[in-house]
Parts: sequence; C-alpha cells; structure tokens
Amino acid sequence: MKTLAPSILASDMLNLGEEIKKIEKSGSKYVHVDVMDGCFVPNISFGMPIISAVRSCTDLVVDVHAMIVEPDRYIDDFVKSGADIITFHLEALDNERIINAIEKIHKYGKKVGLSIKPKTNVSAVLQYLNMIDMILVMTVEPGFGGQKFMCDMMDKVKFLREKISDSNLSVDIQVDGGINDETLKIAMESGANIFVLGTAFFKSKDIIDAEKMLGE
Ligand code: DX5
Ligand code: ZN
Repeated sequence: MKTLAPSILASDMLNLGEEIKKIEKSGSKYVHVDVMDGCFVPNISFGMPIISAVRSCTDLVVDVHAMIVEPDRYIDDFVKSGADIITFHLEALDNERIINAIEKIHKYGKKVGLSIKPKTNVSAVLQYLNMIDMILVMTVEPGFGGQKFMCDMMDKVKFLREKISDSNLSVDIQVDGGINDETLKIAMESGANIFVLGTAFFKSKDIIDAEKMLGE
C-alpha cells in the first residue's frame, strides 16, 4: 500500500473542513496531524481539539504525529479524539516506556508508528521492528513545515526496507519533511511507502492527484 499523508500543519486552519475535503478529493488515504508541544520541538501547533475536529468530518485514516515529550501520557486522549495511528518519537521515551506505549496503543486496536529524528541512528529502531506498524523517518528536523528534504536520510530508509523484507514483516515506512514530486520519487525508490506532504500539498494551486504523484 502506498499513500500520500497530507499534513494539515500547512493548511488554512480557518477553513479546515474544506482543506480536509481537498485531501479526500486528492485520493490520499491518510490525513497527517502534527502535534507539537514547544518542548520536544521548538514550535507549538495544536492538540486534541483539532484531532477531534478532523475526526468529525472525515473517514480518512487519522495519522497523528506526536512531537511531544512524554507521549505515553496522552495515548488515551489521542484515542478518544479519534486517532487511527499514533506515531511518537523514539527519542522521547526510554526503552521500557516505549514498549509499554506500543502495547497500550495496540490494546486500543490502533496502529503504532515510531519516529526518528535526523540525528538518531537508525539501528535504534531495530529492536522494535516486530512490534510496530510504521516507522517514520524524519527527512527534516521536526518542528516546522517548509524545510528542505535531507537526501542523506535515504540510507536509513533503504536499510530499514531491507531489514523489514528480510524479516518478512509488513511495516510501513513513512517519510516526513520536504516531500514534493521530485523528493517523493527518491524516497519511494529508497523503499518508503507513506509520504507526508505539507507545503507541496496545500500551497499547490491545483488539487494534487495522489495516484499520479505515486505513479500508479
Ligand atoms: C515537521 C512536520 C511535517 C511538516 C511537513 O515537523 O512533521 O509533517 O508538516 O511539512 P513540509 O511538507 O512543508 O515539509
Ligand atoms: Zn509530521
């Protein structure tokens, strides 16, 4: 499965309902919701009320990317707000809390994503590979939209894709940051299958055609 995951961080918040319709029209299956706390990352975005608002107006997969400290404290709230996938950062918790968080999210019947920042060594996620549904390889420093894609992160994607197929697992690889037509192709060739798009989606004059962009 391949899909775009447009990030509402770059959307017109005053017209969120209309922006979500654009995502539906594009043929994307996911809507990506970037939660930032001003502590794990230097920026503050939004939280539960926005996740609930998104949930209330769409059947798209609600893909929450938690860029927050102590993400395990908010699992219940993310689920209550309507998240289908909860992705948290490996850097935010110690090993024991990571495992507990994964188990807790799965007990709710929701999917778990684990994310790594650009400076984090990819080998750190290997021990969780058989417990999670998705790995999010950040292709910019988390915190802001509109940054430049870090091509050197593709080594991580290639490495993970190889490990995942060697182990016969079905873990999705998501990339997030600086994705556009050109960088999406690079990421796809490297083995990513879920593509977060902020600026390239919402600042485009025309509605993006997901199938076309994914080359399907
Ligand atoms: C960055 C966020 C991204 C961001 C991507 O911390 O996780 O999801 O919205 O935005 P663009 O596509 O503009 O780089
Ligand atoms: Zn994100």
